[in-house]
Amino acid sequence: MTKPVCADAFLIRQRNLKNDYYSYTFGPFPGVEQCRPGNFVHLRLPSSDVYFRRAMSVTSVDKKNRELEILFRVVGRGTSILARYQKNDPIGILGPLGNSFSKPRKKEIAAIVAGGVGFPPLAYFAEHLVNGGFDPKRILFFYGGKSASDIIERGRIKKMGVRFHPMTDDGSFGRKGLITQGVEEFLRDGGNQRVRMYACGPEAMLRAVDDLGLKYRVPGELSLEAPMPCGIGVCLGCIVTLRKGGYARVCHEGPVFKIGEVLL
Ligand SMILES: Cc1cc2nc3c(=O)[nH]c(=O)nc-3n(C[C@H](O)[C@H](O)[C@H](O)COP(=O)(O)OP(=O)(O)OC[C@H]3O[C@@H](n4cnc5c(N)ncnc54)[C@H](O)[C@@H]3O)c2cc1C
Ligand code: FES
Repeated sequence: MTKPVCADAFLIRQRNLKNDYYSYTFGPFPGVEQCRPGNFVHLRLPSSDVYFRRAMSVTSVDKKNRELEILFRVVGRGTSILARYQKNDPIGILGPLGNSFSKPRKKEIAAIVAGGVGFPPLAYFAEHLVNGGFDPKRILFFYGGKSASDIIERGRIKKMGVRFHPMTDDGSFGRKGLITQGVEEFLRDGGNQRVRMYACGPEAMLRAVDDLGLKYRVPGELSLEAPMPCGIGVCLGCIVTLRKGGYARVCHEGPVFKIGEVLL
C-alpha cells in the first residue's frame, strides 16, 4: 500500500481524444514517485456543485518531471468541469490511492480486457510491463467499445507492440461483438497456454470476465469502480461484498480484486 500525497498541481498538457474523451497531464505532483498501475488519484474540483472528489485511474507517469496523466470521458458534473479546464489551471490531487495489479509470471500470457473508459489503468499496466522487459507478444490487449470512437489511443497501443484485439458492438472498428466473446474464444481455443487476465470496464463486462475466469480456471484481476466519497477507507461508501463473506472497500482493499473474490 502506498502513502498518498495531497498537493496542488497544474494542468500542463491536454489532448482532446474526440467523442468526449480527454487526456490530461498534471504536474508537478510529488506523489508520482509511488504510482503503480492500478492506483488512482482523487481530484478536488474547484466548484461548489461538486462536493466530493472524483476518482481517476493513473494512466501514465513521468517520474523525472513529476507529471501524471489521467484519461477521462465526460459523463456528468465532475467530468464536465474537468473538460472546461485550461492550461495552467490548478487542481487538488490526493494519491496515489488503492492497490495495484500484480505482474504475470514470465511464462504466462497476460490477457488484458479493457471496456470503454476502463482503458486508462490497463494502458498504464501494459506499458509498465513492456518497459519492464515483459515480451509484448505475450500481452493480448482486448479492447471493446460500443463503436469505433470508443476505441481511443490506438496508436499508443500499437506502439507498445502488444497483440491488439479491438471489438465493437456495431462492428465499426475491429471485430463485431462483445469483447468478452473474443476473450472466451481465446480461452476456449488457446490450447494449454498459461493465461492471467486483467480487466477494467463496465460492471457487466467485469461480471462476464469473472465468470470466464471461474469457468476456464484462469486466474486474474479485476479493477472495480464504485461511488467513492472519501477515497481513503473512512466513509464506507464504496463497499463490495466478498464471496467468502464479509465486505471490502474498493478504495482501500481495491480497486484491484482477484477473479472470484467479489460478488459482482
Ligand atoms: C477507482 C476508480 C477509477 C476511475 N477511473 C476513471 C478514469 O480513469 N476515467 C474516467 O473517466 N472515470 C474514472 N472513474 C469514474 C469517475 O470517478 C467518475 O465517477 C466518472 O467520471 C463520473 O463523474 P462525473 O462527476 O462526471 O459524473 P456524476 O455527476 O458523478 O454522475 C453523473 C451521471 O453519470 C453516471 N456515471 C457515473 N460514472 C459513469 C461512467 N463511468 N460511465 C457512464 N456513466 C457514468 C452516473 O450514474 C450519473 O447518472 C473512476 C472511478 C473509480 C472509483
Ligand atoms: S470511498 Fe470512503 S471508504 Fe471507500
